[in-house]
Amino acid sequence: MKSNWTRWTALSIGLAGLGVSAWIALGAFQPSAAQEPKVVRVKPKPATIAPKYNDNGELLLPEGFENWVFVGSNLGLEYKEPVSDDKKEPEPDSKKPADLRNFHNVYIDPAAFDHFQRTGEFPDKTILVLDIYKAERGDPKSLVAEGLFPGEQQEVAVAVKNSARPDGSKSNWAYYDFPLGTKAAKAFPDKACYQCHLEHGTVDNVFVQFYPTLRKLKKP
Ligand code: HEC
Repeated sequence: MKSNWTRWTALSIGLAGLGVSAWIALGAFQPSAAQEPKVVRVKPKPATIAPKYNDNGELLLPEGFENWVFVGSNLGLEYKEPVSDDKKEPEPDSKKPADLRNFHNVYIDPAAFDHFQRTGEFPDKTILVLDIYKAERGDPKSLVAEGLFPGEQQEVAVAVKNSARPDGSKSNWAYYDFPLGTKAAKAFPDKACYQCHLEHGTVDNVFVQFYPTLRKLKKP
């Protein structure tokens, strides 16, 4: 038979043991915040959305571009077309009433945006979409008494950078127009679109100067 002393000792040792276990369990041995391994969060790279073409080398209207990165919008930005001798100077757009102009909403595919963000350059297979809407005026009798909003969609224009174009052209940027309902379009000849973009776009044929989201990422 054990003495009281032995019992108390055994009990004390047992309790002390429990205490140590609880101490461990309660986190006394947990690494402090400073020792904790750093969690490196890697942002997944968006998958490249390759431009799709039909057998005639025409570009297919990119699907779902409304979910891409929106780089900017403008109202009624129009270009000075080169004026030939037999034509009168066209009426400047600034003289047109605002509701005869169009909203231009511009999107870029997410992989190209990611690349531009990191490098300031547009990779091969970049796609930019210009989605055009007629500006409409709020109805003075309704809640929106003032201002303009994008009304009816007019057309979609697309720019694609592709150094291996299926239509055989060697120009890396190609420009397309999709009137409503069109699903495939042939690239314009270089003098119709490429030339002006090359001469006046601030980064690699793209009018980055008009798109705030890209403009602030531009390399100095
Ligand atoms: C005289 C100059 C000029 C010509 C010619 C021209 N563009 Fe543009 N383009 C612009 C300007 C300025 C912008 C800036 C954004 C805008 O128009 O809303 C632009 C923007 C674009 C964009 C958005 C992406 C980018 O590169 O900035 C597309 C797509 C586009 N144009 C397609 C075309 C097509 C298709 C043609 C030929 C039919 C064409 N452009 C001819 C001046 C021109």
